[in-house]
Amino acid sequence: MDKIIVEGGHPLNGSIEIAGAKNACLTLMPAALLTDEPLTLTNVPRLSDIATMTQLLESLGSEVASLKDGQVVTIATENITSDTADYEIVRKMRASNLVLGPMLARNGKAILSLPGGCAIGARPMDIHLSGLEAMGAVMDLRDGYIHADAPNGLHGAEFELHFPSVGATENLMMAATLASGVTVLKNAAKEPEIVDLATCLRAMGADISGDGTEIITITGVARLHGATHRVVCDRIELGTYMIAPVIAGGSVELLGGRRELLEAFCEKLEQAGAVIEDTDAGLRVTRREGRIQPVDIKTEVHPGFPTDLQAQMMALLAFADGSSVLEETIFENRFMHAPELLRMGAQIDVQGGTATVSGVTELKGARVMATDLRASVSLILAGLAASGETTVARVYHLDRGYEQLVRKLSACGAVIRREAD
Ligand code: EPZ
Repeated sequence: MDKIIVEGGHPLNGSIEIAGAKNACLTLMPAALLTDEPLTLTNVPRLSDIATMTQLLESLGSEVASLKDGQVVTIATENITSDTADYEIVRKMRASNLVLGPMLARNGKAILSLPGGCAIGARPMDIHLSGLEAMGAVMDLRDGYIHADAPNGLHGAEFELHFPSVGATENLMMAATLASGVTVLKNAAKEPEIVDLATCLRAMGADISGDGTEIITITGVARLHGATHRVVCDRIELGTYMIAPVIAGGSVELLGGRRELLEAFCEKLEQAGAVIEDTDAGLRVTRREGRIQPVDIKTEVHPGFPTDLQAQMMALLAFADGSSVLEETIFENRFMHAPELLRMGAQIDVQGGTATVSGVTELKGARVMATDLRASVSLILAGLAASGETTVARVYHLDRGYEQLVRKLSACGAVIRREAD
């Protein structure tokens, strides 16, 4: 296991290339199962989660070729040769469950290891399963696996999600593309990654409308064909690196960044102390003069403040001139970065789903532990502004969602290195 050591106190100046979205890729790749023709994805980020999804698809019979150092991935699945998404792969990455809809649509059968919980919460799959049942699938839960069958194929259905689950919307949308008849998904997720998936599916011949709104209508077609699709920019990587020059000082251009992907987040970051400007190549973020200002945050589904940027914002607000209240409404246990920030001298009081951050003028570098992907990057951000050295252990969490983080930050003047732990 590696660790990352960052020396605080160095303002950032320069530019950072924003990669393709991990959370778009993890649903675009299994979409390839819906056709026997090749699906080519460009602007693919080089992340361990992408490697895990590649491993899963290959275990199901896909041929995955990657070019341009992994930035272009072609997936061809002439035949699905296995119905089973194995526990050993699924336990590593919950998003493995996104093969369920495509496998049922293509072959009428899937055996998926239940993903189980993860650090941030129980993360059940009830919406995925009840939606697919409404479309004619029969689900049998035994020995830790979901045995899903649709012997007569899937049929269209009108289905209301009790929560606008991103993954459930993606699974149901993909399944509906080949179902017989019309499917209407109500209270669907509206995240940009949903729109990106719908755009790709339309390029493959699917009949989908309403993506990006709470009602998505899909009319099933007989088959889909191959396509080439460019993965949308990663708005969570973007938001993470927008915070970096605000917490550390300086001014950084985020190449490929687009404000409309993160409007609610940008408003809160400006209130806290950022100047955000559009540039020809993306966005420029500059730290405003004076101390960081306290800001209250409530995570919500899109277009609200993204839960995936809550931990990073907490690191920034630990330095604010006053108290901020952060309410996490999406996951039940997403404050594991708080105890680690406390060890750096932050003042944070967590009560259930609410954390009150009383800003301090200084954090002290310490040896801290990464627990989940976004919590680990919040510790790196805190380390950029803390006095002395901060060592973040177990950085394999980071490799899941941030490609070349040390290189990108070093290029802007951060004093940061990675070593074997
Ligand atoms: C996606 O996870 C993202 N992952 C997550 O990003 C992100 O935090 C989340 O959406 C919310 O935006 C990928 O896209 C691969 P959900 P997903 O289903 O689809 C409950 C990161 O850091 N729920 O929208 O799993 C669930 O328990 C990751 O990149 C049900 O109750 O999220 C949670 O409380 C972390 N039943 C809430 O909905 C279900 O059937 C949101 O989950 C499904 C979900």
